[in-house]
Amino acid sequence: MKEQRINIAIDGPAGAGKSTVARMVAEELSILHLDTGAMYRAMALKALRLGISPGDATAVLPLLPKTEITVESIDGVQHTYLDGEDVSTLIRTPEVSKGASDIGVIPEVRIKLAESQREFAKEHDVIMDGREIGSFVLPDAPYKFYVTASADERARRRLLELQEKGIGMDKTLESLREEILARDHTDSTRAFAPLVRVPDAVLIDTTNMSASEAAAEVLHRVNKGER
Ligand code: DC
Repeated sequence: MKEQRINIAIDGPAGAGKSTVARMVAEELSILHLDTGAMYRAMALKALRLGISPGDATAVLPLLPKTEITVESIDGVQHTYLDGEDVSTLIRTPEVSKGASDIGVIPEVRIKLAESQREFAKEHDVIMDGREIGSFVLPDAPYKFYVTASADERARRRLLELQEKGIGMDKTLESLREEILARDHTDSTRAFAPLVRVPDAVLIDTTNMSASEAAAEVLHRVNKGER
């Protein structure tokens, strides 16, 4: 095992481009990318399929010991498995987005997922994106970034993404903006490990920046060994 793993933390609100940027950086550095949001989404999908509201802690807690969420990188693309089933596409609906935010409020869910994320970071060189990677999952990561963008721009990107995938076609720009703001609120006001910009995270505002420009900024700092 190597002495020092490359661990890069990227946090920020929904739709800021974290995953796209992280994927690009991972490819450039030949390291793995872990999209932690996919794990919350898989957990939410499990609850929704059972008719359980993801925010209902009493109903969700008994599911935890019976749930296995794993990831695998195939040709640089993350596949997310819920109890062995590849749910990578199923977890991208607006209903699951909201469910993931709601289920992420439950501390026991966060503790379980953070444990496997820390294991992953111990075993691999990784760039991990989420909400609290720099503050809670990998507080000692040598590289931390906070990627954000205006709510209007994030809603616009979400609309394009849904249109490309042919899902959520009933959504308007305004309804997506509202959903994004509601999710920001849930993610940043939860009591346990909320979305936060830690003081040692480099701020990257992608409102007027392409994903490749943002990735270049991350790479520049990592290659220079800047923190
Ligand atoms: O990054 P994303 O949009 O796929 O995340 C979906 C939701 O999952 C997000 O609104 C809150 C939750 N989440 C979280 O609580 N912690 C993370 N590290 C990643 C996601």
